[in-house]
Amino acid sequence: MSVPPRSSDGKITVPSLLNRKSLRPEDATKITCLTAYDYPTARLLDEAGVEVLLVGDSLGMVILGHETTLPVTVEEMLHHTRAVRKATRRALVVADMPFGSYHADIAEAVRNAVRFVKEAGAEAVKVEGGERRLELIARLIESEIPVMGHVGLTPQSLHAMGGFKVQGKTPDAAEQLVRDARAVEAAGAFAIVLEGIPRELAALVTRELRIPTIGIGAGPDCDGQILVLHDLIGLRFGPQPKFARQYTNLNEIISSAVREYCSDVRRGSFPSDAESYHMPEPRSPRREINIDVELTD
Ligand code: KIV
Repeated sequence: MSVPPRSSDGKITVPSLLNRKSLRPEDATKITCLTAYDYPTARLLDEAGVEVLLVGDSLGMVILGHETTLPVTVEEMLHHTRAVRKATRRALVVADMPFGSYHADIAEAVRNAVRFVKEAGAEAVKVEGGERRLELIARLIESEIPVMGHVGLTPQSLHAMGGFKVQGKTPDAAEQLVRDARAVEAAGAFAIVLEGIPRELAALVTRELRIPTIGIGAGPDCDGQILVLHDLIGLRFGPQPKFARQYTNLNEIISSAVREYCSDVRRGSFPSDAESYHMPEPRSPRREINIDVELTD
């Protein structure tokens, strides 16, 4: 199911992303990442050259309509990861492990992560958390599953954080965040998402680590950037986060197309004759039309 990696055809792989960090800053280009949840958008993103497609558990909010990511299940994540996998040729496909799938015990976490690779074709998994995930990340890597870390504003810790709040703003919190990022690297992760932290702290972590940092709400100095696709394309409801740049407004584009369709149906201008099938031209001798015949064009 997964695409065997061949760097010769430009396939983005875990080693190719790690290599980017070892390039001289003037030679290094930023890593482009976006979330993807289904076949058509994943295909468009891959063909547009996005390098990492994250099947984020944010799908719980932007696709399934939940208020948080917490209700998302392993089965739902597998379902969406399969669709993204089928659409993707070049990008690295990373699957988010949902809340509860790696929290009870490490053996169960490894079993769940194996499902993402084996049943859905993910090339890596992402887990949230720093120092307290050290052993888990190491065990996943021992099991040949590359891991992307995620520290800072980790949406699965919503209740512990008391809301979606910027993290690492006090000296103590900033020091803890640096310890968390170092732990994720020491455990063997190939990259780390820095979410919702001050720009200065993200720059410091990016200088400190040998693995690429991928920022979201963490300023421009990270090694790469990620956004939730639906924020970028304006296919969302509610206020846009400060860090998310909206490049187009699909809400408006879709609403206007659908309003036009409804109006065409109501006034009978859709479908037109050209959009209709026709009976074959009668051959002579003319015979009665049997209305039970199957229509073809
Ligand atoms: O679930 C998600 O989409 C994420 C990204 C925002 C990093 O974790």
